[in-house]
Amino acid sequence: MPTVEEIRKALEVVIDPELHRSIVELDMIRRIELGADGEVSVTVSLTTAGCPIRGHFQSSVRDAVMGLDGVRSVNVDFDVLSDEQKSALQRTLGRNDLPAGALALVENVVCVGSGKGGVGKSTLTANLAAALAGEGRRVGVLDADVWGYSIPRMLGLAAERPAVSAERKIIPLDANGIAVMSIGFFVPEDSAVVWRGPMLHKALKQFLEDVEWGALDFLLIDLPPGTGDVSMTLAQLLPQASFVIVTTPQPAAQRVARRAAEMAHKVSLEISGVIENMAGFVTPDGERYAIFGEGGGQALADELDVPLLGRVPLTMPLRAASDAGVPLVVENPDDPASQAIRHAARGLIALAPPPRPSAPAPVGMALPMAG
Ligand SMILES: Nc1ncnc2c1ncn2[C@@H]1O[C@H](COP(=O)(O)OP(=O)(O)O)[C@@H](O)[C@H]1O
Ligand SMILES: [Mg+2]
Repeated sequence: MPTVEEIRKALEVVIDPELHRSIVELDMIRRIELGADGEVSVTVSLTTAGCPIRGHFQSSVRDAVMGLDGVRSVNVDFDVLSDEQKSALQRTLGRNDLPAGALALVENVVCVGSGKGGVGKSTLTANLAAALAGEGRRVGVLDADVWGYSIPRMLGLAAERPAVSAERKIIPLDANGIAVMSIGFFVPEDSAVVWRGPMLHKALKQFLEDVEWGALDFLLIDLPPGTGDVSMTLAQLLPQASFVIVTTPQPAAQRVARRAAEMAHKVSLEISGVIENMAGFVTPDGERYAIFGEGGGQALADELDVPLLGRVPLTMPLRAASDAGVPLVVENPDDPASQAIRHAARGLIALAPPPRPSAPAPVGMALPMAG
C-alpha cells in the first residue's frame, strides 16, 4: 500500500482547471484515508458547493491514485473550503498572480477606502502621501479610483503624461518626490472610463506590475468608493495590503463605512485603522463647529478594534490646496487639518511592520503616535 505522503505526491498532477495549479499546491486536499484491501478515500475541498468541475476532480483524482501500486479502489468525496481556507487560497493566488519582481521592493501597501464617495478619501490619500514623504519615507500613490480619479489634479499632475522606460515599464510621475500613477494620465480629462470585469482586472494588474514603482516604504492606494470590483481585484492581487477606512463623524456614515470594513474582512485584508474626516469645521480664527456631529470615527474604530489614526477637521485651506494641486501638509503644515493628517501619517508609520531584513533601512526614525 502507498503511504499518505505518496498519495499526496501522486495528486500533484491534478490541476484545478480554473486556477491552473495543482490541488496539492492549492491546499485543496482535505483528507486522505487508507482503508483495508487497498481502498483509498480522498476528500477534496472545493471553492463552492456547486462547483461545475467536480466531475473533472472526481476522475482525475481517481486516475492519479489508481496508478499507485496496491490501490484497488478510490473514493472521492467533496467538501467546501471554509472562509478561512478560501482567504488562504486567495493569498496563495494573489502572491503568484503577480510576477515575482512586481512590488518586491514595496514595504507597505495601504489601501484607503470608504463606503461612499465625497468623504475626502483622495484628499487624505494625497496629503498622507506628502506627510509620509515629509517624514523621510519613500512613497507612491496609485489612484485606483478608475471611474472618479482625482489624484492627478490634487497632486498638480493633471496635464502630464508618464514616460515609458527602455524596459517598457511605465515610469510613475513625480509629485515632489511622490511616485504617482493614475488612469487619469492616460485618458482625456473628464472622460468616463467604463471598464468592468476582466478589463478592469487587467488594467489594475498592469498598474502594479508594469509600473516602475521601485523601492518604496509606502504605496498608498486610493480606492473607489464602495466595495466593488476594484477593491476585490486589488485584494486578490495584493494580499499583503492593509486597509485604512475613512469616515465622517455621522452615525449614518459610520454604518456605510462599516460595509467597507466588512468587505475588507471578506477578502481578508487587514484593517489597520480609521481616519475620521470632516471632524468639525475649523474657521480661519480657529473656532470649531461640529457640523457633522461627533464620535463616528471613534465608534467605528472601537467596533473594529483598530486605532483611530486621526480626526481631520474641515478647513478652507485644505479644500483650496486640493483644488490648487498642492498638498496642504506641504503648503501649510500648521493648518489644523494638516496637523491631524501628519498625526495620522505617523500612526501609519508606527503601525507598519519593521522592514524586511533584505530591504534597505528606512530613512529617518519612526515617531511614536502622539495621544
Ligand atoms: N477635511 C477637509 N477640509 C476641507 N475640504 C475637504 C476636506 N476633506 C475633503 N474636502 C473636500 O471635499 C471634496 C471631496 O473630497 P475627495 O477627497 O475628493 O473625496 P473622495 O475621494 O472620498 O470622493 C473635495 O473638494 C475636497 O477638497
Ligand atoms: Mg476620490
